Amino acid sequence: MTSTLMWSRRGWLGLALGAAASGCVTAPGASGAASLDSLAKAKGMRFGAAVGRIDLDNAHYLEIVRRECGVVVAENDHKWPIIHPAPGVYNFAPGDRLVDWAERHNIRPRGHNLLWNHPRWIAPWVANYDFGADPRAGAEALLREHITTICTHYGARIHSWDVINESIDEHTGEMRDTVFTRAMGPQVLDFCFHTARDAAPQAMLVYNDYMNWTADSANHRDGVLKLLHGFKDRGVPVDALGLQSHITADPNTDYAAEEAAWRAFLDEVAGMGYQLLVTEFDVNDNNLPSDPATRDRAVADYAKRYLDLTLSYTQVKEVLTWGIEDGRSWLNNFRPRPDGLAKRPLPYDAAYQPKPLREAIADAFRAAPAR
Ligand code: G3I
Repeated sequence: MTSTLMWSRRGWLGLALGAAASGCVTAPGASGAASLDSLAKAKGMRFGAAVGRIDLDNAHYLEIVRRECGVVVAENDHKWPIIHPAPGVYNFAPGDRLVDWAERHNIRPRGHNLLWNHPRWIAPWVANYDFGADPRAGAEALLREHITTICTHYGARIHSWDVINESIDEHTGEMRDTVFTRAMGPQVLDFCFHTARDAAPQAMLVYNDYMNWTADSANHRDGVLKLLHGFKDRGVPVDALGLQSHITADPNTDYAAEEAAWRAFLDEVAGMGYQLLVTEFDVNDNNLPSDPATRDRAVADYAKRYLDLTLSYTQVKEVLTWGIEDGRSWLNNFRPRPDGLAKRPLPYDAAYQPKPLREAIADAFRAAPAR
């Protein structure tokens, strides 16, 4: 059984590589199945995935994205260190490559991110930048240039932007301390959203963060709620909250508690009038046993619970996974599994075969109310 499966995968890969070379690729496993994007669209949503620079040279990866997705986002190539690597220098080529590819395939690109307000991820040259005698004015000038240059470059081609990424500390629920908050105070976020609204008036403007439904995320959820209330009170143009949704399947989950906490959170966000996007979905399988079939089942079941609840909110307009196949997940480089095995967090496996998680996502779209 195993050897047949191995052989057939190798056989398919050989065929597909030949087909790719001739410009024609057909991936196995989902022939005739409704695409995830078409299931999402039937309910007024869209489905998509992150695409890394390396994926743009992988015909198998692109074929799955082309078949399943109505939205894509660059995993890294619109981030500050890449797109604005030195003062006054902009490097649009890597990000443009994905946007161009997406448009050729009628897929909508979204943008991630204009400012990752987290000390670990601010470009080194920015972290050491001299804002001058009036640091607030200096920081505003740099942010205005950065946001306006990028938004103007893309114009209406990018339909939604993560304007700010991960600015709330997950432990304290407070604003992170960065070179920008030191220069401008917490108003740095308001400034970025106003600047983005001026520069990209057609785009959905998103605050994106990784608070989730677990008990240890309570301070993070509270901090994000406080931030969102502040935006409303001050009339800051924020359209949506991005729920990154990097979730971890846990056999000891107290679903009643997690679902109650998540409902309370989403009720409050929706009550303020925000739309919602699931921006970076994947399922960490660190706490699950080694057997792949057992893991895949548990990942799919956990994901279904999370998505059923989340998609019951008609404010959710898009669902994106952070990659499409296991071999390319960032999770493989982050907190390895105790048994050293590769993780299985995405809808397709590393041989480009659909997994139970793909079906769980499809079922969640089928079960979701229309919007
Ligand atoms: O491309 C270089 C390569 O040339 C170099 O040899 C290598 C050495 O470290 O680094 C490569 O760049 C890495 C890049 O990923 C591409 O693989 C960077 O070091 C690494 O920091 C970067 O990590 C990304 C991370 O964000 C930081 O930007 C991950 O790919 C990306 O999946 C991850 O995505 C984040 C979201 O933006 C925000 N939410 C959480 C999510 C997961 O951490």
